Amino acid sequence: MALVDVSRLPHHVAVIMDGNGRWARAQGRIRTDGHAEGSHAVRRVVRAARRLGVRALTLYAFSEQNWNRPRVEVDTLMELLRDYLLRERAELLEHGIRLRAIGRRDKLPARVREVLDPLERDTAALDGMVLSLALSYGGREEIVDSVRALAAQVAAGRLAPDAIDEPTLASEMPSLSVGPVDLLIRTGGEQRISNFLLWGSAYAELYFTDTLWPAFDAPDLYGAVAAFQQRDRRFGRVPSDVGGYAGPLAPHGLPQAGE
Ligand code: IPE
Ligand code: IPE
Ligand code: MG
Repeated sequence: MALVDVSRLPHHVAVIMDGNGRWARAQGRIRTDGHAEGSHAVRRVVRAARRLGVRALTLYAFSEQNWNRPRVEVDTLMELLRDYLLRERAELLEHGIRLRAIGRRDKLPARVREVLDPLERDTAALDGMVLSLALSYGGREEIVDSVRALAAQVAAGRLAPDAIDEPTLASEMPSLSVGPVDLLIRTGGEQRISNFLLWGSAYAELYFTDTLWPAFDAPDLYGAVAAFQQRDRRFGRVPSDVGGYAGPLAPHGLPQAGE
């Protein structure tokens, strides 16, 4: 098993959980069986990340573009999401995990929001780890929403256009409140971002694995973290072994002056 140095963990790990449909097909089962099995992988990985000491875990559960899937698949995904939230409640509370959703939550069915809202509320003060579920989420949409929020402040005379800088924009993005992404994992073999955390991943280390999401387990997470620990994060500077210093990150992913 991969050796992880727990003193140098990525602060924020994000995962594009892909490959449920292909996993199901390989088993001769229907796509939605893959999603059901995928929700068990979520449980395993949340637990493993918490045990390891990761502070923030962001999981891409449903993209804004996934609404374009067949109605029956979307409905099943929403029911599975509701089941997951009901089932994991005790586990999250027991392990001090704060759950929150990022994305356009107003598009989620009431049946999901009625379990999501109380779970967010009841775990809000927990500080073991922040688990962000990206639901009806798109990276471009999040940037648009934050621009809109700043534009409203400018229109109201509360913000000068010249005062807008990267931290101002990032401060309007819910995905950034746990800091920029350090390690971005994508399962399922595709090597693309698919509109996930566009802003926050600017300097993320990318890790792609062919393992399909329902088959992903704790050792796979450790393997990704171990690979992360082999990387030399330069943030545009020279390699660390010739005197450049890379990390830790200041808020919003910008190395601090003087580091
Ligand atoms: C990821 O698995 C789950 C969601 C996108 C909701 P997919 O359903 O995309 O599975 P593949 O990529 O078709 O195998
Ligand atoms: C990305 O997977 C979205 C989630 C994992 C929720 P997709 O399967 O939707 O991505 P594409 O279509 O292959 O880019
Ligand atoms: Mg897919």
